[in-house]
Amino acid sequence: MIKIIDGKKIAEDVKEELKKEILALGEKGIVPRLSVILVGEDSASQVYVKNKERVAKEIGINSEVVRLPASTSQEELEGVISRHNANEKNHGILVQLPLPEHIDAKKIINLINPKKDVDCFHPENVGRIMIGDARFLSCTPAGILELLKRSEILVEGKNVVIVGRSNIVGKPLAVMMINLGATVTVCNSKTKNLKEICAQADILVSATGRVGLICAEMVKQDAVVIDVGMNRDENGKLCGDVDYIRVCDKACCITPVPGGVGPMTIMMLMRNTILAAKLKNADLSFPVC
Ligand code: GUN
Repeated sequence: MIKIIDGKKIAEDVKEELKKEILALGEKGIVPRLSVILVGEDSASQVYVKNKERVAKEIGINSEVVRLPASTSQEELEGVISRHNANEKNHGILVQLPLPEHIDAKKIINLINPKKDVDCFHPENVGRIMIGDARFLSCTPAGILELLKRSEILVEGKNVVIVGRSNIVGKPLAVMMINLGATVTVCNSKTKNLKEICAQADILVSATGRVGLICAEMVKQDAVVIDVGMNRDENGKLCGDVDYIRVCDKACCITPVPGGVGPMTIMMLMRNTILAAKLKNADLSFPVC
């Protein structure tokens, strides 16, 4: 029988744990504070930012959203980041992507104080994951690992195939899985024999944004399938990369879309924000993870 990994329920469990952590911090006079910077009017970004604001509030994180016009210049945005870097009151800074085309996003990310980089996009934090000395963990990959852990699926010794090599999901997830002792293959849209490689996976992760890319023939009997895709089908319905109905006949565990990986990403952002607050107050001797 297929097990559906209920990301919504697991995210709720994490949320309750985070609320307790915030209460404990509150007793020491610390309220984690997250600054979200949104430039322009991108409609998807507006929704994402609203969700972050809502969840932060529900958990007890103090959040502010800095909304800037699409016409904001590179220099102006750099000034905003510098001010937030220097602000003692906030613990986390997140610049919502994508940024308008005239902005050099890489330069902006590099400017964020790595100790406040709760998205874990700064090269220092990415590099620290690489050498197994992570400060923060990238949010979506961390969410996937948490789903696996809480579903009692061991990563160590497994053949993991990741389809997608983005800086946000594929690459950091591969490194985090390697650090946990998995044998990892990272594929992309040009990979030869993609079907055969995927069919070797004990754990198959797809993060491509291509509807129906992962069909049943690409899935080994009783594999674990993690769908990171966030797409719209031809009827405008939210769906992942996986041919869900058919793959359900083959896999032992699967994450649905919606209600799989998505709800976990935002919780991991909140977890990183709490961690940033703890790190800043490390002299108060908290356990920091
Ligand atoms: N845009 C889409 N996803 C993300 C994310 O996880 N972080 C940021 N900063 N921007 C995004």
